[in-house]
Amino acid sequence: MSKTLQAIRGMNDILPGQTPIWRYLENTFAQLLSSYGYHEIRLPILEFTELFARGIGEGTDVVDKEMYTFRDRNDESLTLRPEGTAGCVRAVLEHGLAGGGQVQKLWYAGPMFRYEKPQKGRYRQFHQIGVEVFNLPGPDIDAELIGLTARLWKQLGFGESVRLELNSLGSPEARANYRAALVAYLERHVDQLDEDSQRRLTTNPLRILDSKVATTQAVLAQAPLLQDYLDDESRVHFDGLRARLDAMGIAYVVNPKLVRGLDYYGRTVFEWVTDRLGAQGTVCAGGRYDGLVSQFGGKPTPGVGFAMGIERLVLLLETLQLVPATLEASPHAFICAFGDAAELAAAGLAERLRDALPGLRLLVNAGGGSFKSQFKKADKSGARFALILGGDELGARVVGCKPLRDDGEQQSIAWDALGDYLAPWVASVDDKNEGRHE
Ligand code: HAM
Repeated sequence: MSKTLQAIRGMNDILPGQTPIWRYLENTFAQLLSSYGYHEIRLPILEFTELFARGIGEGTDVVDKEMYTFRDRNDESLTLRPEGTAGCVRAVLEHGLAGGGQVQKLWYAGPMFRYEKPQKGRYRQFHQIGVEVFNLPGPDIDAELIGLTARLWKQLGFGESVRLELNSLGSPEARANYRAALVAYLERHVDQLDEDSQRRLTTNPLRILDSKVATTQAVLAQAPLLQDYLDDESRVHFDGLRARLDAMGIAYVVNPKLVRGLDYYGRTVFEWVTDRLGAQGTVCAGGRYDGLVSQFGGKPTPGVGFAMGIERLVLLLETLQLVPATLEASPHAFICAFGDAAELAAAGLAERLRDALPGLRLLVNAGGGSFKSQFKKADKSGARFALILGGDELGARVVGCKPLRDDGEQQSIAWDALGDYLAPWVASVDDKNEGRHE
């Protein structure tokens, strides 16, 4: 196939073998969020470029190197969203959802786009489930957000495979003071820094703390620490968060070098990290952005949130062999029909059964075929019963009902009695084939 008729690099099809895992994750999380009182918001995938340039910040990798930006037919500069926070803040402001100090607890899910170098766990179209909360300034909500992610990991069975890293970035003034001290220190060692870090010294010096390059790391070992520049209010906020996490029994490590790649953060930042996925080990990340709403022209409105990468969570579920065995519910019955007249009768019978038994999972053979091939398809579908309709059954207005999951004998059941016969299976609460996501 020519290259231009293939999927774009880093943009994946999610095939039927995978979608049940995605649905399991999405449904598990949607239920959890609902149980904590969060509501879904659905947002456009395209926004004006300026929203991201101003919200995420010029000088960040996302804005400078990774955005899919183009001009539309009206010559407007638009960008495929690289993340969900900026668009969510825009929508909240545009619709007055956080006006008058109103609390909003929102979540969203969907594709995000970044022109990054694709590798395991890192894609150009990837999917996030994100949460954003408005008008709650205290550490109690930061703790709730972290607590609900911890509960999701518990429900998925991650155990000790993910760990929580925390930091506080302090107030804008504290950060500016720290930034000046860091730049002054790093300028004295500029020739020991890698090229990327030298460039960041003017564009985004805090990001140098993230550098993985050994020589830069060595310089950073003696660098001033953000913690020593924290303002009192941010320190109290951070202590409050830590005390709550302790009370909730949630373990964490304070990582003084955790700064995050997006400019809007202040005070709390956190990441959930795993060692089981190689280089792309951050499965969930977020923090507080109390200045973002006012930066977009709104009244000062505290905000805090996080987003998790669905591809990485799917990979982690698979790596840890935690994908539940029965995610897709098997059919209750599969109708095999032989000959034109039986096929017509099967079509009518199937409709009457579906009317009579809401919840019935019924497949009807399509495309004809021998007794052997249809029976094989019935078995392969995982159905509990094969319902057989041949010339003899048609004349007697019965079906041959053959159990496929146990050794029971085939029985002849009148068409009118079939609904009653299948009803207990459809209603059964401990139907072993019931998928967990249903
Ligand atoms: P982020 O750290 O850029 O934060 O992304 C959040 C998560 O999305 C990452 O931890 C990772 O799991 C996943 N992710 C990011 N880039 C990729 C990629 N190229 N391929 C696969 N997965 C990826 C944000 O986006 C913020 N909006 C989070 C937030 C919400 N902060 C406050 N509210």
